[in-house]
Amino acid sequence: MNAGATPRVVRELHDDILVVTINNPPVNALGVDVRRGLLEALETAATLAQVRAVLLVGAGRDFLGGADIREFGQPPQAPALPDVCNRIEASTKPVIAAIHGAALGGGLEVALAAHYRVALPSAKLGLPEVLLGLLPGAGGTQRTPRLVGARAALDLMLSGRHIGAKEALTLGLVDRIAEGDEPQDAGLAYARELLAQGAPLRRTCEATALADRAAQQAAIDAARAETAKKARGLFSPAKIVDAVQAALDLPFDEGLARERELFVECLDSPQRAGLVHAFFAERATAKSPELRGARPRPIHSVGVIGGGTMGAGIAVALLDAGLPVTMIERDEAALARGRANVAKVYDGLVVKGRMTADARAAVLARWQGSTAYDALAEVDLVIEAVFEEMAVKQAVFAQLERVCKPGAVLATNTSYLDIDRIAAGTARPADVIGLHFFSPANLMKLLEIVVPAQVAPDVVATAFELARRLRKTPVRAGVCDGFIGNRILAVYRQAADRMMEDGASPYQIDRAIRAFGYPIGPYEMADLAGGDIGWATRKRKAATRDPAARYVQIADRLCERGWFGQKTGRGFYLYPEGARSGTPDPEVEAIIAAERQRAGIAPRAFSDDEIVRRYLAAMINEGANVVDQGIALRPLDVDVTLLHGYAFPRYRGGPMKYADTVGLPQVLADIRRYAEEDPVFWRPSPLLVRLVEEGADFDSLNKTGVAHA
Ligand code: 3HC
Ligand code: NAI
Repeated sequence: MNAGATPRVVRELHDDILVVTINNPPVNALGVDVRRGLLEALETAATLAQVRAVLLVGAGRDFLGGADIREFGQPPQAPALPDVCNRIEASTKPVIAAIHGAALGGGLEVALAAHYRVALPSAKLGLPEVLLGLLPGAGGTQRTPRLVGARAALDLMLSGRHIGAKEALTLGLVDRIAEGDEPQDAGLAYARELLAQGAPLRRTCEATALADRAAQQAAIDAARAETAKKARGLFSPAKIVDAVQAALDLPFDEGLARERELFVECLDSPQRAGLVHAFFAERATAKSPELRGARPRPIHSVGVIGGGTMGAGIAVALLDAGLPVTMIERDEAALARGRANVAKVYDGLVVKGRMTADARAAVLARWQGSTAYDALAEVDLVIEAVFEEMAVKQAVFAQLERVCKPGAVLATNTSYLDIDRIAAGTARPADVIGLHFFSPANLMKLLEIVVPAQVAPDVVATAFELARRLRKTPVRAGVCDGFIGNRILAVYRQAADRMMEDGASPYQIDRAIRAFGYPIGPYEMADLAGGDIGWATRKRKAATRDPAARYVQIADRLCERGWFGQKTGRGFYLYPEGARSGTPDPEVEAIIAAERQRAGIAPRAFSDDEIVRRYLAAMINEGANVVDQGIALRPLDVDVTLLHGYAFPRYRGGPMKYADTVGLPQVLADIRRYAEEDPVFWRPSPLLVRLVEEGADFDSLNKTGVAHA
């Protein structure tokens, strides 16, 4: 610890109990100062004769938020967390953990090394290491199964889910629940009771929940089989199962050593680096520069224009966050459809038993609809989700300007249109902003907050506050065709289309992209989203397209036949009788062959590796352009957009993080090689070139926060 810095661990004697308070805001992560402080506290407890018990508590909102994630990848600093846990468990005076708020990862492992645990109602316990590409590495894989059995331990470690005090008590993870919100009071009361009873030192390493070997082995086998099926491409889940197998097979100390080996393998894996990057990146995007000076405007009620796919989804997201919603539609029939679209979501939840009929009725009571814009006179925010046509949107904004009270925030959910133009068409451009939700809007986490030139900072702050209330992951984007996500998507989809015309089948491309870690490939995605949407956009842009630029027409040929994907039973794939996963279609292959011929292309073979490299190079290059032009604040904003809106595999951290992992010189060399065939499409981004010349990577821009010159 630096001289003069606040001590991270404070010791205080309460009669014969040493209260050890961890105070490392914001979440009491177990950084090196905390680990040292804990060891010192245990030494104090051992040497002071009047100490008969030790109580561990966290200051602030949480017990312990886990290992300090910022230390991963840095040179290790003693003492290591497993040693601290072992020292706690070895204490000859009982150690009691009083848990409130988060006891996660290493934080729960500290509690498990204590001899007794009391949880307050606010407690949130879990072993979420798997979400960071890790396994519990401070004895958690050995102590948890000994305490609660292999099945429950594996469930916690493989899901990473948080559980409350009641479930923790049922599982046997804690010994009791105390009421109130003062962990120190609850802990002292419990410690005094234990001392009065002469309660024994109860070490978790000696707990016996693994005694029934056959049943435990069956649980491990089941988890292994399930993991093989579900953990697509992920590294740490199988290691977690291995560690629990070691808990069953080996004495405690040998099990700990095995856990350490497996933990280090995970720690060193690029997946860990990717997942930790994603963790910090999605927190960084929530902090926009506008938030520094501006206070959000209050939002008590919201208007939604349009009750189609997006309007209804947005309405559900707002209702779920407790906000009242007024929906405007063109006529009564469309309004009835809009209401039905909203109600359908809640009906589904009732059918699945995830919502009661009363709760459904209560939510829908906050929904009202109208065909008259005057119903929006009092709302604080309006989100427009009508057809994607400038004239229609401008007419809507003219109405909003007429009816909305001064200071109401006016947002558009447009996918591509120029929001500066929409704003300039109103008399209150400072109130106009883009809120680009993703479909289904009530489920998808991403919210692009599109910031036009004239918008007031407090409107931007309001948008970020709304994202927080809706539990969305916000990313700040500038105005351009497609903002961050759709603009980049358009480019890598073109790269895929070119490969298809040059000789790769859509089925091979999808397979290769899935093998990279995507849940589905681009053509499966196109079939899912509906080919008509992209077709309409392509037709809209046809007039402004450079006639000299290569334009692959295969998707148009399918759309002309009415093959829009799943909803029409065929697209790139065939979907016989409502099937959700498609089968390759020989007719599509014939259409592709004809298109190749028409374009005078002799097809060539692509390896899966080349497909992935070209697809990613196109994505990374456009990501660099988006950063260079200030559309995204930093490379990490591109990463979060593609992770949360476009299913980029999270364990790779996002395309820009992936580029850093591969090395920017290699990415640039690939692009330059592809540019030899098509210098118009494959133009290296100036930012990429600059970074390679400077020997820097994208992450260097995340740190400085200054991406564009
Ligand atoms: N280490 C370092 N920083 C952490 C951290 C951690 N374990 N957990 C949170 N932070 C930081 C966040 O980055 C954020 O920083 P910022 O303000 O600079 O952006 C700040 O703390 C607040 O975090 P949140 O915005 O997430 O705050 P919330 O109140 O929404 O959530 C939380 C609190 C539930 C504790 C959440 O932060 C969380 O889930 N943290 C991660 C918990 C975790 O994964 N722990 C396991 C770590 S791995 C481990 O323990 C290995 C061990 O087995 C050896
Ligand atoms: P949709 O066609 O399903 O719904 C549009 C609705 O707007 C229709 O119900 C229509 O009756 C209504 N409407 C049209 N003009 C209106 C007016 N003047 N006043 C009131 N209501 C009117 O379209 P969808 O898919 O919901 O798209 C809406 C907007 O959201 C578009 O701008 C689109 O680009 C954007 N968007 C769409 C996404 C998607 O995946 N579908 C994703 C993100 C944004």
